[in-house]
Amino acid sequence: MTSSRPSAVVILAAGEGTRMKSATPKVLHSIAGRSLLGHVIEAASTLEPHHLVVVVGHGRDEVRAHVEEIAPWAITIVQEEQNGTGHAVRIALAGLAERGIATSHGPVVVLTGDTPLLSGRTLVGLLLEHESTTATATVLTARLADPTGYGRIVRDSDGSVLAIVEHKDATDEQRRIDEINSGMYAFAAERLSSCLGRITTDNVQGEEYLTDVVGLMHADGDVVSASLCADPDEILGVNDRVQLAQAAALMRDRINESWMRQGVSILDPGSTWLDVDVDLQADVVIRPQVSMRGPTSVAAGAVVGPGTTLISCEVGAGAQVIHTWAELAVVGEGARVGPFTFLRPGTVLGNDTRAGAYVEIKNSTIGAGAKVPHLSYVGDAEIGIGSNIGAATIVVNYDGVDKHRTVVGDHARIGSDTMLVAPVTVGDGAYTAAGSVITDDVPPGAMAVGRSRQRNIEGWVQRRRPGSPAAEAAGRAGQDPASDHPSEQA
Ligand code: UD1
Ligand code: CA
Repeated sequence: MTSSRPSAVVILAAGEGTRMKSATPKVLHSIAGRSLLGHVIEAASTLEPHHLVVVVGHGRDEVRAHVEEIAPWAITIVQEEQNGTGHAVRIALAGLAERGIATSHGPVVVLTGDTPLLSGRTLVGLLLEHESTTATATVLTARLADPTGYGRIVRDSDGSVLAIVEHKDATDEQRRIDEINSGMYAFAAERLSSCLGRITTDNVQGEEYLTDVVGLMHADGDVVSASLCADPDEILGVNDRVQLAQAAALMRDRINESWMRQGVSILDPGSTWLDVDVDLQADVVIRPQVSMRGPTSVAAGAVVGPGTTLISCEVGAGAQVIHTWAELAVVGEGARVGPFTFLRPGTVLGNDTRAGAYVEIKNSTIGAGAKVPHLSYVGDAEIGIGSNIGAATIVVNYDGVDKHRTVVGDHARIGSDTMLVAPVTVGDGAYTAAGSVITDDVPPGAMAVGRSRQRNIEGWVQRRRPGSPAAEAAGRAGQDPASDHPSEQA
């Protein structure tokens, strides 16, 4: 770590982000389940700054509410008009002074809110360079194959930093420089304040450029350093949806690589999207086309995918989840889910359970070893251990006004195509006959038959559908076409 914590980290996030073409402020767009601003705050937190300041402007109410949610210790300061990066930092320092907060006891670090790939490690490197060179300003720089649009780092013949020149203000010769300004810096606080008071708006964009303080400091004889960032991806700024997707892909690769190094098998990293809050144990296997969102956890030996989305779910050891969409669901150890299963919030599948094809479960507990294997809806229910819910069983939990609970005991056998009309209880070890509509409680061990008896009207097809393939088939089966049957009138 560095010897001194920053007195403040200032994150600039007041810009409009027009190129996103979005109703959402740019820094609130998210990748890997965290906002762009949230990623920057996370990296900044590595430095343990005494104060974290976020400069807000466009969409300030939304951005401020978000900051209060994810980093309640941070201070938001409003920049009413966006007159440039220098202006933004000036407003931030003035805001701190107004609140009686001194910045003299450590460097001031300036970051931008739209660089989600920035790592804490790089910031630590920036501060180490800043301190070891006793600089008043240290710029985080990168070499880019295409530096178009960025401010260029102009160095002296001895390599010291002379100035930063914005692309729009640069000469052709300066535009050929491939070392660019990332927009992230460490500053000696007092020198920063005094130089910010001297910058002008005398440039192509008519803005107060923060970058101009670098030239002023150099002219005053200060040491200005540069810390070259080895991985240019880290300083990738998101300005439009194309860059948002690029940043998301880079973050995805970074997250996947980290899990693979910790013993997780990812068969197709390009189609595996894991949020930052996902937690996996060694020997988890992730098949293609998987997305895990929110605080989803998967225990050792479980297999997830292909084609599965888990949102804030918990998957137990050795479970299998195939072609499934699940949200706020718990899948017990050794459970088998899918293919084509929909687990909605409040689903708790016990150990060694089964939820099969075209099964939807909501707000229900399925006891250990119980099975819901085929074509069912189970809502607001409690199914006991070892019970079997026959194919096409539907829990009728909603009477059009209220939801009601259904309870099925242990080791019950619900016949195929049963309707369990809630509120209803089926006792331990009870059976229901296939096709039953169960409206009354079933005592333990009873067989409930809730359907009318079948009757057969003999010869009906040959009389009513003479000459049809069905009638001919019946004839070949030895059915007498002339036979009449009185119950036909019934
Ligand atoms: C800035 C740098 C440039 C650098 C580039 C890196 C300046 C003058 N130029 O240029 O050298 O290569 O970043 O991406 O600093 N912001 C505010 N208030 C403002 C203006 C900007 O909060 O009044 C915020 C923006 O929301 C953004 C950041 O500061 O997050 C950078 O501003 P932007 O206008 O994008 O600066 P660039 O022109 O990209
Ligand atoms: Ca920018």
